[in-house]
Order: sequence, then structure tokens, then C-alpha cells
Amino acid sequence: MRTVVLTGAGISAESGVPTFRDEDGLWEGHDPMAVATPEAFDDDPDLVQRFYDQRRAALTRVEPNAAHRALARLEDVLGDDLLVVTQNIDDLHERAGSIRVHHLHGRLRSAWCTVCDSRHPWTEPLVDQPGCPACGRARLRPDVVWFGEVPYGMDLVHEALFSCELFVSIGTSGMVYPAAAFVQYAAARDARTVELNLDASESSTDFEVSRRGLATELVPAWVEELLASGDLGQQ
Ligand code: APR
Repeated sequence: MRTVVLTGAGISAESGVPTFRDEDGLWEGHDPMAVATPEAFDDDPDLVQRFYDQRRAALTRVEPNAAHRALARLEDVLGDDLLVVTQNIDDLHERAGSIRVHHLHGRLRSAWCTVCDSRHPWTEPLVDQPGCPACGRARLRPDVVWFGEVPYGMDLVHEALFSCELFVSIGTSGMVYPAAAFVQYAAARDARTVELNLDASESSTDFEVSRRGLATELVPAWVEELLASGDLGQQ
């Protein structure tokens, strides 16, 4: 069964990666979302680099959880019929064993050179303005998609959505487009739609099935049910 799984910050919450909208917390007095814009980077590049440097460093202190692992197990069975589209910039899906993962909003462990347009695996801070491994210029930025920028690989995502038979959304508030509209694309093609989330999301009413709870409980249980159903058609 061709399946697209959309994940958001909620799937990584129990690993210790903070979500965006669940807490009132400020980061050094700034709204994290106000830091995630091209304008913020133009105004104060060091501030924005430090924000992402801290988040990149924090990845060394977190591990994938049972929800990430359950999706990797589903991929073992579905193979090319499963695509995980994540809004997360962490690498927890990959570390759990998922291979077919598309990062709509980029990846923390990648740096992008704004001079020569090359991308490089990156684990170190960027605030000290290291040179680009390809061209040597000190103009690397986090390889992430900020508000106002175009999400990565939308052609691939649309193709997957328009041909999927099952669409599952996990741990996302449904407040950020285009991901928030994916359920509608999938439903328009008669795909089954399932939401697994802690709270009601902005798009809960668009799903056929909407379950509430922790990702580490809901996702493994749902994957088990799906696999046990035999035809991968019963949620
Ligand atoms: N299990 C399941 N769901 C959870 C859990 C959990 N343990 N903890 C939180 N959630 C749910 C919340 O109920 C909420 O609906 O995860 C959702 C997190 O929502 P957001 O913080 O808005 O994260 P997300 O939807 O991924 O944000 C989308 O916004 O700021 C941008 O680019 C950023 O990719 C991000 C995008």
C-alpha cells in the first residue's frame, strides 16, 4: 500500500527535542519562530547561527524513540511504498533506521554555501564563519528552510501524495503550510487518512481517523495494527 507519513516536532518531543508551539519558552529572549527567517539572518547572523548551532549540538544528546523505530519497521515491510516526509530538521528518523526520508524543511546536520550553492554534511558550529569546503568563502548558513522560503522537494512530495493510498500525519500542529494541506491532497485522491497527535490539530477534522496520545504509544500500536491486518489496509 503506497503510504506517505508526514511527521512534525511531536514525534521527536519524547526524545527531548522541543516542539515549536507547545511551550511558551523563549530562546535567549527571542521567539524561536522569529529567529527562523531570512530577515532575522540578515539583521543578526550571529544570533541565528547560535540558535541553530545549539540545536545542532543538542542532537548529540538525544536518541530516536519508539515512534521513530516503528516507522523504520514499517519501512522494512513497505520498502519503496513508504515515504516519510518530515518537517523536522533533526536526524532521528535516519538514526532509527529509516532510509526513505524527505526533509521538507532541511536538516540541521547540513550546511549550505550561499556563494557556490554547495551543501555539506555538518556537525560543528557555524557562528565562527568557517570556510566552505568547496569554494572557501565564509558564507555558510544552516541548510534549513525558514519562514518565507520554499520547502525542499515539493515535486517529489506532490507526486507521492497524489499516488498514495494511505496518508498518516504524526505530531504536527497543522499550522504551517504547505504540509498542513497534505491531508487534503491525499483525501482528494481517495487515500485513507489517519492522524496521530497529542492534541487536536488545526486539520484534525480533515482526517478520517484521528487518535490522541503520545507518539511513542500511538505510533508503535498503529504500525502493529497495520502489519497485523495483512492487507495493510485496516487502520
Ligand atoms: N506525541 C505526539 N504528538 C505530540 C507530542 C507527543 N509526545 N508532543 C507534542 N505533540 C504534538 C502537539 O500536540 C502539536 O500538535 O505535536 C505538535 C507540535 O506542533 P508544532 O510545535 O507546531 O510543530 P510542527 O507542526 O512540526 O511545526 C511545523 O513550524 O516552526 C515551524 O519549521 C518549523 O517544522 C516546523 C513547522
